Amino acid sequence: MIVVLTGAPGAGKGTQADLLASQGGYRKVSTGDALRKHVRTKSPIGLQAEAVMARGELVSDEILFQILREELGPDSQEKILLDGYPRNVAQAQTLDSLKEMHPVVVAIHLDVDSVELVTRLSGRRVCSSCGATYHVSMTPSKISGICDKCGGALQQRTDDREESVRTRLSVYESMTKPVLEYYRGKGLYHRVDGKGSTQDVFRKLVGSLDGLSLS
Ligand code: AP5
Repeated sequence: MIVVLTGAPGAGKGTQADLLASQGGYRKVSTGDALRKHVRTKSPIGLQAEAVMARGELVSDEILFQILREELGPDSQEKILLDGYPRNVAQAQTLDSLKEMHPVVVAIHLDVDSVELVTRLSGRRVCSSCGATYHVSMTPSKISGICDKCGGALQQRTDDREESVRTRLSVYESMTKPVLEYYRGKGLYHRVDGKGSTQDVFRKLVGSLDGLSLS
């Protein structure tokens, strides 16, 4: 079964999905992480996607479907947290086409206002080696620029620069917000307030999953 974790860029989807996965029970599937791996390894998909991602636009639905099928795999018993997909209504319909094996049981919207989103994205730093995520002021590493977990160098994502952030927020408004309505129409929409500390949000998220008998 699939729990869709949705929300604007910087809402904390990746952070919360990592926390939930580390408590066991769920496997995180992130289309953004999968795409960045393709870019790092310079695969044919990575070569097509790199410039699109750097601009903050959406990669094609065809490429995403290929990634989705690879990442979900055939195990229908798994509990999967899906971070970053679907990003438009066509992708939501595509995901529905896999419901025999991977039914969506809830779409959780991590809701954060736009001022906070820009603060989070502009201060995000990511380990170039293990992918761990930090924020320069809100969740800093112990030594500036160095990953606490593996000692790797921390970098800013190319799409966290101002111009790309503007594009990503506008793509979210026009393409991804209709996905919230799509799930509302199916009775699967559930809002979680994404403001507050990482641990506060995590408690709210677990509380919601408990309430839905899904944790
Ligand atoms: P993707 O990686 O999915 O990017 P995104 O949706 O823009 O999400 P982010 O990773 O920016 O944010 P997040 O919500 O995970 O926040 P995070 O936890 O990191 O996609 C990247 C690109 O790939 C897309 O633009 C597109 O080009 C392509 N792509 C991916 N999927 C696609 C699809 N389905 N279709 C087409 N194209 C696709 O947190 C952000 C920061 O805030 C961090 O610094 C973190 O430490 C901090 N933070 C988190 N929570 C808190 C908190 N509670 N308080 C304070 N700080 C916090």
